[in-house]
Amino acid sequence: MHIRVARVDDLQGMQACNLQNLPENYTMKYYLYHLMTWPSLSYVAQDDDGKIVGYILAKMEEETEEGEDTHGHVTSISVLRSHRRLGLAKKLMIQSQEAMASIYRAAYVSLHVRKSNRAALGLYKDTLGFTVKEIEKKYYADGEDAYSCVLSLKDK
Ligand code: ACO
Repeated sequence: MHIRVARVDDLQGMQACNLQNLPENYTMKYYLYHLMTWPSLSYVAQDDDGKIVGYILAKMEEETEEGEDTHGHVTSISVLRSHRRLGLAKKLMIQSQEAMASIYRAAYVSLHVRKSNRAALGLYKDTLGFTVKEIEKKYYADGEDAYSCVLSLKDK
């Protein structure tokens, strides 16, 4: 397994991975916008045959309020079922976080996760050290609440 920065020709594989794993799906234009605007924040995990088996799509937050620290945001991450619990999501997260801190001087990284998503919460809270900042009621289209989570990138 190989982790590397995402390229435009990976977008189809990333979208396929997203469609298999998550109800939150995006237009190709939105993926492309991420890669064009923040080319070093999104990564893919690729198997030996070149298939995309996981991705992280990330960006810098554009709508920061006055006085708020610059921060990164994880738009979406997923790993195909066949390749889970191998540490891929952890590696994808760390690569992106390191780039946010070193290239953009991000003070912290934020993300949203469904309250019911045990696997992702395990990854964010237990493995990576994110904390829940607040609960956003009915954040998702189906009415489920989101945890809004943050992780400081200072000293990274
Ligand atoms: N149950 C509990 N804890 C888990 C689970 C699980 N099923 N999966 C991962 N973890 C935690 C564990 O602490 C794990 O460490 P360990 O294996 O040493 O115990 C740690 O996370 C790291 O696991 P990875 O192997 O790096 O995670 P994986 O590559 O399997 O991917 C992911 C985790 C991305 C959540 C995967 O299950 C997935 O694709 N799920 C569907 C899509 C999804 O929910 N994405 C996140 C939505 S939120 C967002 O995109 C911002």
